[in-house]
Amino acid sequence: MSEGKFITVEGTEGVGKSTNIAFIQKEIEKRGIELVVTREPGGTPLSEEIREILLQKRNESVDATAELLLVFAARAQHLNTVILPALAAGKWVLCDRFTDATYAYQGGGRGLSLETIEQLEILVQKGRHPDITLLLDIDVETGLRRASARAELDRFESEHLEFFERVRNAYKQRVASRPDKFIVVDAAQTLVEVQKTIENALKPFLDRQG
Ligand code: TMP
Repeated sequence: MSEGKFITVEGTEGVGKSTNIAFIQKEIEKRGIELVVTREPGGTPLSEEIREILLQKRNESVDATAELLLVFAARAQHLNTVILPALAAGKWVLCDRFTDATYAYQGGGRGLSLETIEQLEILVQKGRHPDITLLLDIDVETGLRRASARAELDRFESEHLEFFERVRNAYKQRVASRPDKFIVVDAAQTLVEVQKTIENALKPFLDRQG
């Protein structure tokens, strides 16, 4: 049996990941492909507990390296108990965020060195990377306005504008270093336009797997 495909979706806050993940899920499943939809941090009971720790606002300031290690602890559990077994069984995996988010948030946002992140990436992933990553891109202010209209802000969403500018720039650097691995979508378009763009961009990838 051939391995399934591993697709991730990335972007800054309020970019519309959830709505568009539901759309991508439909696009994949209508081709009769068995799909696991999951998220990071999270995706297993243990990793969801780590997610809560990461997102919870607290009085104590959180050390950036501690944050990085928590992210990768959640990822190791998720990858080894959910993602890799699904891919090995021929299923596809659609994941809301993965290691590009670590380069963007802990690297760009918190200022940790990319080499340190890469060392943990090698330790945890052993060379397994997403097959394709969809980056939804929007100017930071519009995204934050959308996110803050939704619910109470979590620890990351409460960060300042410059933090998210650095996150967005770090995503753009990831794309520049591996353009063949990314589909970048302008998320400031209307939802109909965004989904048309996603559909057109994913079609060659989906057709190749057909
Ligand atoms: P979400 O709310 O978009 O699902 O993501 C939760 C938060 O976790 C989001 O603000 C970004 C952050 N995050 C990191 O800082 N590093 C990571 O590696 C991942 C996967 C998420």
